[in-house]
Amino acid sequence: MVKKPRQRWGSRIGVVLATAGNAVGLGNLLRFPSKVALYGGGAFIIPYLISLALLGLPLMWIEWMAGRYGGARGHGSTVGIIGTLFKSRTAKIIGRIIGVVGVAAPVLIIMYYIYIESWTLGFSLSALFGWLPEPVKTTDTAMALKPFGEFLAEYTKPTPFAYLIFWITVLLNWYVLQRGIRYGIEILAKYGMPLLLVMAVFLAVVIFFSKGPNDHWSALKGLEFIWKPDFSRILDARVWVEAAGQIFFTLSLGMGAIATYASYVKEKDDIVVTGMATASTNEFVEVVLGSAIAIPAAFVFFGPASIPELAQAGTFRIGFMSMPAALNSLPGGQFYSFLWFFLLFIAAFTSSVALIQPMITFFEDELRWNHTKAVAVAMITVIVGAHFAIFLPKFIDELDFWAGSFMLIFFGLIEIILFIWIFGPDNFHREINKGAQIKLPRWVAYLAGTVSLGFLLVITVMWVTQNVTDPKFLVTGNAGQWAARIVILVLFLWLAFYAVVSTPKEE
Ligand code: ALA
Repeated sequence: MVKKPRQRWGSRIGVVLATAGNAVGLGNLLRFPSKVALYGGGAFIIPYLISLALLGLPLMWIEWMAGRYGGARGHGSTVGIIGTLFKSRTAKIIGRIIGVVGVAAPVLIIMYYIYIESWTLGFSLSALFGWLPEPVKTTDTAMALKPFGEFLAEYTKPTPFAYLIFWITVLLNWYVLQRGIRYGIEILAKYGMPLLLVMAVFLAVVIFFSKGPNDHWSALKGLEFIWKPDFSRILDARVWVEAAGQIFFTLSLGMGAIATYASYVKEKDDIVVTGMATASTNEFVEVVLGSAIAIPAAFVFFGPASIPELAQAGTFRIGFMSMPAALNSLPGGQFYSFLWFFLLFIAAFTSSVALIQPMITFFEDELRWNHTKAVAVAMITVIVGAHFAIFLPKFIDELDFWAGSFMLIFFGLIEIILFIWIFGPDNFHREINKGAQIKLPRWVAYLAGTVSLGFLLVITVMWVTQNVTDPKFLVTGNAGQWAARIVILVLFLWLAFYAVVSTPKEE
C-alpha cells in the first residue's frame, strides 16, 4: 500500500508552543498548588525537583527521541513506535500490545479532564455575565466560601447550561483536531500560549498587590507559606510518590502524548533543545506562576489556617471556590474571575487536544483510517467516556487513580526499559543527537538507564504498597468505580485487538 505522507508541524516555534501547550494544563495551575499545600510546602519541592531531574527530563528526551524515530518510520503512536523496535513477529506483537497504554491512558484521562475543562469555560462565561455569587463580607472562611460552594455543587449537577458548555468544549476540541497538526493544534498553541502567559502574569501581579481583610495576610507571606519547608515530611514515602506523580502528570509523560507530538517533527529537527524548552516552559508556569496565584490568593483573603483545609478537600475547592470568592471581593472582581477561569480553559484546551491526538494518530498510522474518520471515532470514544464522568459519582476518582497516576508511572518504567536498554543506550544517544546543536552527553543515557530506572522502580513499589493495602479494593466499589474499571478494560481490549491485527508483516 502506498503510504500517504504524514502531517508535519509548520515551524520550530510552533512545535515548541504546541508541546508546551501539551504540558501546561490544569496540572500546573490547580493540581500543583494543592499538592504543595498538602504535602509539606517547601519540603514537597525537594522530591519534586529530584523527580524533575531524574525522571522528568530523561523521560522527556526519551519520548522526543522515540517519537521522532517512530515518525520517520510512519508510526506516531506508542503502539507503532514500540513495534518498530522488534524484528520477530511475536516480540513485535507483544511490544504493540504494551504500547496500547500510551494510547489508552491519555484518552482515559481526557474522559474526565475534558469535563473539568468545560467547567472552566462555563465559569469564565458565568463570570463575564455576572452570574457568579456576590462575595460575602466576613472573616469567617466557611461563610465566605458557602455561596461559591453552592454554585459549584449546582453547576456540576450538571445544570442544562453546564451540559451545553460541555458539548461546546467537546466540539471545540473536535474542530481543532479535525484541522490537524499544523492548521489546528499549532495555530491554537500560537495564539493560546502567549495569551495564557500574559493572563497568568497579570493575575499573579493583581494578587501580589491585593489587600484582604487582615493586614498580616499578604501575598508575600502566602508565598513564604508555600515555600517554607516542613522537613518532617521529607521522609514520608507518600510525599515522594505524589511529587513523582505530579512530574509525570504535569509534563504529560508516560501518556504517549509527547511522543506523538514528536512524531510530527522533521528527521533533522533539534529535539534536545526542544525537549528542554518544553520542560522549562512547563516548570516556569508551574513553579513560578502556579504557586503565585491560587495559594497566595487564598492566603490574602482567607488566612493561613484556611489553606490546608482547602487543599485537603481537593483541587476543585481552591480553583472553583476560593479563587472566585477572593477575586470577586476586589473592585471589578467578576472580570478577574473571568480571567482566572479563561486562563484555566486555555491551559486545559491546549492539553486536551494533545491527549486525544495519540488515538487519532494510532488510527491513521496503524489502521490507515482517513483523518475525518480517525478524529470522529476518537471523539465519540471521549464523549461516551465523559458521560460516565458527568453522571456517575466516583468515576472521575477511579479513573484518575488508574490512568492519571498508576499507568503513567508504570508506562514511564516500560519506556526507560524499551528505549534505553532494548534500543541500546548508544543508539539512544546517537539518535537523539541527530540535528542537535547542543549535544546531549552520553552519560545522560546511562544515567537514565540506571539511576532513573532504579528511582522509578522504588516509586512504583511505594505506589503499590501505599495503594494496594488490601487486595479486596479491586472487587469492591460503587457503580462509578465499576463503570471506570469496565471502561478501562473494554478500551484496552478494543485497542489491543486493533494493535495486533494491524501488525505490519515487514518493516
Ligand atoms: N500535562 C497536562 C496538565 O498538566 C495534562 O494538565
